[in-house]
Amino acid sequence: MRPMTELLPLNPDELLTTTRAVRKRLDFDRPVPRALVEECVEIAVQSPSGSNRQSWQWVLIDDVAKKKALADLYGEVFDEYMLAPASAQYEEGDTRAERREKVTESAKYLRERYHEVPIMLAAYQEGRIDTQPASSQGGYWGSVIPAVWSFMLALRARGLGSAWTTMTCRREEEVAAVLGVPHDQYTHVGLFPVAYTLGTDFKPAPRLDTASVIHWNQW
Ligand SMILES: Cc1cc2nc3c(=O)[nH]c(=O)nc-3n(C[C@H](O)[C@H](O)[C@H](O)COP(=O)(O)O)c2cc1C
Repeated sequence: MRPMTELLPLNPDELLTTTRAVRKRLDFDRPVPRALVEECVEIAVQSPSGSNRQSWQWVLIDDVAKKKALADLYGEVFDEYMLAPASAQYEEGDTRAERREKVTESAKYLRERYHEVPIMLAAYQEGRIDTQPASSQGGYWGSVIPAVWSFMLALRARGLGSAWTTMTCRREEEVAAVLGVPHDQYTHVGLFPVAYTLGTDFKPAPRLDTASVIHWNQW
């Protein structure tokens, strides 16, 4: 497949390590061609899925009123979430604690401007997750999350960005009503802003030392 636009000069490791949750650096003013987003979906559907089911659905939204309705639902859940005390507690020196304020500030920014993004993706997976046992959930989510991540990587390679957001999953029925999704047959995976990024020089983020998460042969 020949990309419709020139790709950024990133090698695979650079692409994988610099695809950030982009919020403050989304370009809300630059239109995004529909065909470019569809090209990213073409790439995304090359991802693996359990038994090759490919049971994902990609609802792309550029209708102003629908974007506003989805952003409003997002904002309501976001505001409730911000009132709750932070669930995870980290020790001093932990990079997750150090970055928390920055992440929160950036998330608040997206909350305020979500409706302005040129395009939104509402991702769906066939089946209702709430009817499935915990033992099926690895297969269920594992059959859609790699595809959405590939979509985000394909965006990044083209100078666009996104952020994984799940607040709208708490208002799934209302989201489905806005989009005409058969809620009884599909689960909402998340909502994703799609926009060009302001600049393309993203960097790897501080992460936990892999020594604290790798186990060989024995936990
Ligand atoms: C499952 C999941 C849910 C998330 N939900 C939200 C969200 O609702 N709003 C938001 O602004 N960011 C959300 N994020 C983005 C994370 O905050 C972000 O990935 C994390 O801070 C690490 O930043 P990085 O992706 O730039 O490395 C979510 C990420 C994941 C993977």
